[in-house]
Amino acid sequence: MEDLNGKVAVITGGASGIGLAMAEVFGAEGMKLVIADIQQDALDRSVAALRARGFEAVGVLTDVSKFASVEALAQASYAAFGKVHVLVNNAGVSITGPIWKMSLDDWRWVYDVNFWGIVHGIKAFVPLLIEQGEPAHVVNTASLASFNGTGEHSPYCSSKAAALSISQSLYSELIAWNTKVGVSVVCPGMVDTQIHKSNRNRPEGDQPWSDREWNDPAHVTGSEAFQGRGVPARDIAEATLSAMKENRFYVFNGDVWQDLMRRQSDVLVNAANPPVQTWGPDLRPKPAQ
Ligand SMILES: NC(=O)c1ccc[n+]([C@@H]2O[C@H](COP(=O)([O-])OP(=O)(O)OC[C@H]3O[C@@H](n4cnc5c(N)ncnc54)[C@H](O)[C@@H]3O)[C@@H](O)[C@H]2O)c1
Repeated sequence: MEDLNGKVAVITGGASGIGLAMAEVFGAEGMKLVIADIQQDALDRSVAALRARGFEAVGVLTDVSKFASVEALAQASYAAFGKVHVLVNNAGVSITGPIWKMSLDDWRWVYDVNFWGIVHGIKAFVPLLIEQGEPAHVVNTASLASFNGTGEHSPYCSSKAAALSISQSLYSELIAWNTKVGVSVVCPGMVDTQIHKSNRNRPEGDQPWSDREWNDPAHVTGSEAFQGRGVPARDIAEATLSAMKENRFYVFNGDVWQDLMRRQSDVLVNAANPPVQTWGPDLRPKPAQ
């Protein structure tokens, strides 16, 4: 998709972080924007800020974990702008903890958003994009975590591995079926966003695992690991824009990913054991002296 001016982008999780940065960068290209998010106040603020910059933007309250909500998003997008050219399945949440300790609700919540959110987006929008018959693009936000099952981050890493795999399958399918719909998968490392506060949008009434120290907001999604170490979300948005224009599948940024891939391929081609990597706070039992 070379010329994006006047085209329509739908961005889930568009009220914060990477999604909002994409909206800003796509808006500057002249794209019309549908911002979909589960958090009404953030949605209102982000749409107002985008409009204040002169962009055409509408906000649609959406829960990507519910198919009916994503179908309603598709209807609202077509009602607002008549067409959709870019779908960004970007909404995502994170939690940390050892697999055997986290609750089933922890797992369900992360999968409902990170895995089912992408499936729902594809099911609701891709038939419409194909039917429209114009160049279009699906962007799925995965992660460098897609390539690596880090300790104490398993719901996140495994759901992001699925996001990568789904994107690879979709890419082949849309070419093999002779459509005009391209696919990119965004695989950032650490980015400065609000993801360490994912709990703010957790469904009411479900049961997080109940270790008081781990559940301290300072620890709950590995936030210390993020502090001051992430790249600006705008870098990811600009890399995504270039990939869409050039019809490139993988969106990486910076050079951290190349080190990771080299280390991983060394491990795999040698069938070596993986390095021990953990994500959560250092609250593990110490070995006896
Ligand atoms: N921040 C990072 O370091 C990083 C790295 C790699 C990948 N990612 C991915 O980037 C994407 C965006 O996350 P971010 O880092 O910008 O975090 P963020 O918390 O700043 O933004 C995520 C947005 O998703 C929304 N959201 C949460 N649950 C939702 C739901 N059920 N339905 C609709 N919207 C929902 C939130 O309200 C929020 O606006 C996620 O998929 C995340 O996994 C982030």
